[in-house]
Amino acid sequence: MELRTAATVSDFLHLLGASVWVGGLFLIAIVTPVFLMTGASNARPGELATLLKRFSPLAFASAGTLIVTGIFSGYMQVTIPAATNTPYGWTLVTKLILLVPLFGLAAANSYLVSRELLRSGATSLKRFVRIEALAALLVLAAVGWLAGLEPARQFAARNGIGVEEEVTFSEFAEGANIDTAIAPGDVGANSVTVTLTDRRDVPITNAIDVRVRLKFLEDDLGEPLISLVDTGNGVWTGDEFKITIGGVYQAEVRVIRPDAFDARTSFRFDAAPTAGAADAIRPTRTVTWTLFAIELLAIGLIFIAVGTPVLKRLVPSLRPMILPGAAFSVIGVALLLNAQVFRSGFPEERFNPFPVNSASIAEGSVAYAATCSACHGVTGRGEGPQAGELSSPPADLSVHVPLHSDSSLFGFIRDGIPGTAMPAQLGLLSEDEMWHLVNFLRTFEQ
Ligand code: HEC
Repeated sequence: MELRTAATVSDFLHLLGASVWVGGLFLIAIVTPVFLMTGASNARPGELATLLKRFSPLAFASAGTLIVTGIFSGYMQVTIPAATNTPYGWTLVTKLILLVPLFGLAAANSYLVSRELLRSGATSLKRFVRIEALAALLVLAAVGWLAGLEPARQFAARNGIGVEEEVTFSEFAEGANIDTAIAPGDVGANSVTVTLTDRRDVPITNAIDVRVRLKFLEDDLGEPLISLVDTGNGVWTGDEFKITIGGVYQAEVRVIRPDAFDARTSFRFDAAPTAGAADAIRPTRTVTWTLFAIELLAIGLIFIAVGTPVLKRLVPSLRPMILPGAAFSVIGVALLLNAQVFRSGFPEERFNPFPVNSASIAEGSVAYAATCSACHGVTGRGEGPQAGELSSPPADLSVHVPLHSDSSLFGFIRDGIPGTAMPAQLGLLSEDEMWHLVNFLRTFEQ
């Protein structure tokens, strides 16, 4: 489902809430004096109280709806905290500040109504309602102003506000602290810096080679492992990394030292299509759908609260709200449970769900020793004890693994290679084990 669907539903509920509340407010501001001025003055306030009591729960539900849908829109339009420092952000903050007296007065009015203070305090109510209507007018002015402004996240993205200048990741592997920084981590030319230190923060200076691959996860582009240049003091750099397509990448780092096992680490990052473009800051699917689900659930609960006499002292009840409230709650809960479906995550069937790291490689090596080494041998060169008995020789993995993407290696393991001795592991190994195996196979690469 499109993010726009959630945004549209949310905007609709926001507008609906605003029109019910503000519309009702103006009506009351106009009607109250008419009511009080005409006819028998001691009968009228009683009727007026009935009218206002009817309006109170609606106003309460509308205000609640406005708050929750407002939080959702705030995320969609502003997205990152740094983006509040934009014209849109400032106007939004002004609007929020104006809301404080609006909500305060609304609460006071509803209190007066619920306490039946009308008969004696009709004038103060009249004044309150008018000030409330005035505050609402100012809020509407801010809303009109907002409509003409560029959404905060776009403004921020175009002007480089809050945009990451580099992607960084640190991991401890094989006794080495590997700090990796990719700048800027967007489409275009990128530089990679790897800093190696030991447990006590002392630079590791004896590495023979540090190689990095920026692998595009959404398609197989066959990216090579590129060797970085040793600039001394455990710092290795390279600037020949080109990112040509926006999307999710996996940065894989391999550190080769004479006195330790190869240390490997990898992490994933989202390269923005073009740095500085209007859509460089985007709401994520996960946050959007989770917020939307919570929004529906919250509106549902507010409606149910307003419909049930539980909160009668605070909010007079309005029974017809219970049914839509229950419907909203059910949809909200269903969406929350279903949040997985809308997750931006990495489609597990196509991408290796496990980044290359020592834990994954360790799991893969166990599976390899048990199922593969009989033919391919401990070193992967095809010298396993069973190799001699096969009609066709097992492939030398140090040569063959670099030729294939993770998903094709996964396919060989799961389905075998028909017409050869290479067996299928489907049903024998779990999918997770197969993906760990793929990560382990990468250790045969030269
Ligand atoms: C019974 C022996 C045998 C076992 C067990 C075995 N393989 Fe193979 N494997 C082969 C043979 C033979 C080939 C060469 C197939 C060909 O000729 O294309 C091969 C090829 C491969 C290739 C190279 C594919 C290519 O075309 O580049 C990979 C990767 C591979 N095996 C991985 C594994 C893994 C991982 C395991 C353990 C789950 C495994 N194999 C278990 C016999 C075996």
